[in-house]
Amino acid sequence: MGNTNPVSKCVVIQLPQIKNPSGNITPISSNMEIPFKIKRVYYLYDVPGGETRGGHAHKELYQLLVAASGSFDVILDDCKETKTITLNRPNYGLLIVPGIWRELVNFSSGSVSLVVVSLLYDEVDYIRNYKDFLKYKNEI
Ligand code: TYD
Repeated sequence: MGNTNPVSKCVVIQLPQIKNPSGNITPISSNMEIPFKIKRVYYLYDVPGGETRGGHAHKELYQLLVAASGSFDVILDDCKETKTITLNRPNYGLLIVPGIWRELVNFSSGSVSLVVVSLLYDEVDYIRNYKDFLKYKNEI
């Protein structure tokens, strides 16, 4: 499914912001702000300085990645093109479609990345080896 997807299908989505002097709210609902049904949410935190996360692709899973606090960079790769996106605002999310290799780098201290995804956790959906990713994309 994801083997033909290009990096250009990964877009930054501006999320709604309900502003209030006492604090803002950003809602994310299935098939409303994002083009998939939400099955799972997780968040990544306490990332040590200089650490890299990600380093894999998914075959079927769609995800929205949000810097709920702080900032980090996401490097996207479809074998033909790479693109780096900085996430640093809680009302912007990066949609990552299936079939894209991603790495998360340059985490600011104390950053929290919120991840909203379309499938339950299943290791079978992961491609964790870059050579396997090239094969999946029919590049070798
Ligand atoms: P992984 O998705 O590789 O993390 P990242 O992309 O942030 O580097 O997951 C790291 C480990 O956590 C791996 O052993 C699988 C496990 N894990 C779960 O058990 N459930 C989950 O929902 C997630 C996201 C990961």
